[in-house]
Amino acid sequence: MDAEIFNKVLKDKVDEIENIISGYLPAEEGPASHLYEAMNYSVTAGGKRLRPMMVMEAYKMFAGEGFPIIPEAVTAAMTAIECIHTYSLVHDDLPAMDNDEYRRGRLTTWKVYGDAMGVLAGDGLLNYAFEILTKAIRNEFDKKDYQTAERLTKASEVLASKAGSFGMIGGQTADLEAEGKGSEVKLEELIYIHEHKTACLIQAALMMGAVLGGANEAQLSAIERCGYNVGIAFQIQDDILDVIGSTEELGKKVGSDAANDKVTYVTLKGLEQSQKDVEDLSREAESILSEIEGDHEFLDILVMSLVTRRK
Ligand code: IPE
Ligand code: IPE
Ligand code: MG
Ligand code: MG
Ligand code: MG
Repeated sequence: MDAEIFNKVLKDKVDEIENIISGYLPAEEGPASHLYEAMNYSVTAGGKRLRPMMVMEAYKMFAGEGFPIIPEAVTAAMTAIECIHTYSLVHDDLPAMDNDEYRRGRLTTWKVYGDAMGVLAGDGLLNYAFEILTKAIRNEFDKKDYQTAERLTKASEVLASKAGSFGMIGGQTADLEAEGKGSEVKLEELIYIHEHKTACLIQAALMMGAVLGGANEAQLSAIERCGYNVGIAFQIQDDILDVIGSTEELGKKVGSDAANDKVTYVTLKGLEQSQKDVEDLSREAESILSEIEGDHEFLDILVMSLVTRRK
């Protein structure tokens, strides 16, 4: 697949994902309509939709060719993980955290709706993710599709633990506590931060798709290792772009890490080594993928495209 075809396929997939997600969003009505507005404002702002895409691609890789239509269990998982990811960004941008005013090319949720609504919209999205998943599990039980109900239960467990206080939230905590500590922070601590705040959710995306597609335990642990490498590379590149990216392309302000006195991969290892590590980690991810049966051509190219991403 050459770059032009990849970009076209990527755009079609993003459109498909946005369509799926929009089918799940709450109606903006009733006494709490401002809350639903703020939730929808955050989710519909765009973004790369990388996590739902990884759910979908991992699912297809394990489920095989016979599934041209994405089943409801998978669309529920895709939407749930994007709700969790979006909530993490809404809270990450709050004045009490990174204090950022732009995200996905628009004002951040708290800038438009106020701090309190920023907190509530994030809470709302977090809970909504599990409302979607538990409803979808119930639907599978009602249809007596016990295999899918079991797989979706496992996918929900993965999401809950990878996004929770032993996963993403733990990483966000360590990230905040490392602020202002400069070179006191050791590389192992930074890797803990990157693994938890970012890689965990990328692992969850790949693992949820894999579980739903019927991966066995060995395949699941391979995909978890793959997600680790992609996730660390992804966060290093995020740190790099905070230094050398452009606000226009990124849709968020560059220089946020320096303004918050954050320890990043770039501050610890320098730009050149950081770029090299992104490439090495991505190649490692690719090599893990190459050992898994099933069609992962698109996923391979997607992983490698993240090495040179500008947004
Ligand atoms: C931003 O994630 C937060 C990080 C974990 C670095 P993305 O770069 O995937 O953000 P969107 O979804 O494209 O806006
Ligand atoms: C955010 O990391 C990770 C999560 C939101 C879980 P960053 O703070 O580096 O993300 P950006 O740069 O604001 O997107
Ligand atoms: Mg942050
Ligand atoms: Mg931030
Ligand atoms: Mg960042």
